[in-house]
Amino acid sequence: MNRLQNKIAVITGGAQGIGYETAAKFASEGAKVVIWDVLETKGNLAVAELEKTGCTALFMKVDVTDFESAFAAAARVIERFGQIDILINNAGITRDASLLKMTPEQWKQVIDVNLTGVFHCTKAVAPFMVEKKQGRIINTSSIVGIYGNFGQTNYVATKSGIIGMTKVWARELGRKGITVNAVAPGFIATDMVKTVPEAVLKSLKEKTPLGRLGLPSDIANAYLFLSSDDASYVNGAVLSVDGGLVL
Ligand code: NAI
Repeated sequence: MNRLQNKIAVITGGAQGIGYETAAKFASEGAKVVIWDVLETKGNLAVAELEKTGCTALFMKVDVTDFESAFAAAARVIERFGQIDILINNAGITRDASLLKMTPEQWKQVIDVNLTGVFHCTKAVAPFMVEKKQGRIINTSSIVGIYGNFGQTNYVATKSGIIGMTKVWARELGRKGITVNAVAPGFIATDMVKTVPEAVLKSLKEKTPLGRLGLPSDIANAYLFLSSDDASYVNGAVLSVDGGLVL
């Protein structure tokens, strides 16, 4: 299928996990994909893998916590491709600890990547979308941003904050031809959940009506829908992709 034919898509955190799966899916739908990530070796390997399928893919070393890094990368994408049609704000980290044990450093690291990073990348990319009067911005929240979760004060603050920012930007940018939506994944089998104890994962699977963890492709499909013409009237939405899990 060619649902994203010739679209230019920037995917943050695209070197692995959900982001990489998204880059592969978008490329298979005709998009030219640009991965922004801090993992240089993995990012270059990802691009080499994608190029084997004959698509156009590019890796740029970008630390989303650094505005200048995102700003310069956005300018380079414009130089190379002339526009940015889709921004997937997918990069994220966890530094879990209960409130009583969480250090200010753990708090700051997660806020810097997951929340400030989304602000930086959107701030860097949105002006180019406004100029073209079109664009799709998809932010990655989480079901824990809706329900909360033990041991994740910092992470939950960012994932709830992302829902708020999504709604603000949907209002501010909608009239300029840009839709802004969020995806709230449940528990997805990637490196991120490797630190979750097996017993907890088992209980999560049991609590999920669909009886399994999500796959990176489940989230990539949601990003694809929101980036495609099929979602042209969807704006300010938070799409839960969690197998029906209610925490
Ligand atoms: P992952 O850990 O496999 O991938 C995250 C990517 O973000 C990595 O490639 C990493 O290098 C990149 N990254 C981290 N810090 C960065 C920075 N400062 N600048 C640029 N890139 C950076 O994680 P996964 O599971 O693929 O997560 C993707 C998104 O989905 C994250 O925002 C995460 O919070 C969210 N999510 C994941 C869930 C899960 O169960 N795996 C559940 C709910 C949300």
